[in-house]
Amino acid sequence: MDKNRERPASPKIMQNPSPSEGVKSQIVEPRPEAIAALPADWHAAGTMGASVLHAIARHAAKRQVLRSAETGSGKTTLLFSHLSAEHKVFALEGDDGSITVVRNSPLLNSSTVEFVEVPTHVTLPNQRFGNKLQLVLIDGPHGYPFPEMEYFYFYPRLDKDALLIVDDIHIPTIHRLYEFLMEDEMFRLIEVVQNTAFFARTESPLFDPYGDGWWVQEFNKRRFPFGFKRTTLRRFRGWVGSRLPDRLKRAIKRSMGEKC
Ligand SMILES: C[S@@+](CC[C@H](N)C(=O)[O-])C[C@H]1O[C@@H](n2cnc3c(N)ncnc32)[C@H](O)[C@@H]1O
Repeated sequence: MDKNRERPASPKIMQNPSPSEGVKSQIVEPRPEAIAALPADWHAAGTMGASVLHAIARHAAKRQVLRSAETGSGKTTLLFSHLSAEHKVFALEGDDGSITVVRNSPLLNSSTVEFVEVPTHVTLPNQRFGNKLQLVLIDGPHGYPFPEMEYFYFYPRLDKDALLIVDDIHIPTIHRLYEFLMEDEMFRLIEVVQNTAFFARTESPLFDPYGDGWWVQEFNKRRFPFGFKRTTLRRFRGWVGSRLPDRLKRAIKRSMGEKC
């Protein structure tokens, strides 16, 4: 897929001279410029642009990322390998080479990364995350309902103030997930950079993943009841109308007292 491709910035790698405290202090952080400078066709699945990579680095720097996960593999994996102490990648090589290029890159901090190379449909339901995650990126399979399925398995694992990053919100079905999250009490939209949305987990209680409760979700509360009958009737009238001869349409309108 054609992603938010941008002109790469300087390829110079600069080591962070003053890494922040705790676990992060053991991690050498290259500046995202070096990763963004890799060619846009570095792998064939489409990669994130420089401004998105910079935004990821900026938002991750504001929190201590002990554990993180992403679906899909690429430039983001290189970046997360330096931003997180333990990063899990749920991806599939397929024909796009998106895992091999990452594995072979000198920019990868391989000591922090684990690849799980099976479709996320299979791995995520069986995944046991021992501890909470401070950062999750959804950028694996993009067809409906795969990103929503991934969201289901990740959202209960998000720590307070964790970053949830959803890519490709210009795809209609993913846009709906974005709209849902925008209104959900568990999330606060931080910003949108190109087609990537950045959310932070709020302190709102976890929505029970094994119950029901559609009626307490903001997205439903604001739209219920959905005007299904009216919309369907209008569409049906339009469909019938487009098939009737003009003379007949005028006669019907006349009989209903409408102006022709
Ligand atoms: C758009 S790319 C990810 C790009 C990456 N975030 C970057 O910035 O370079 C999509 C990724 O999802 C992977 N993928 C596609 N279908 C998948 C599936 N069913 N399960 C797991 N990964 C999948 C692709 O192989 C690819 O690595």
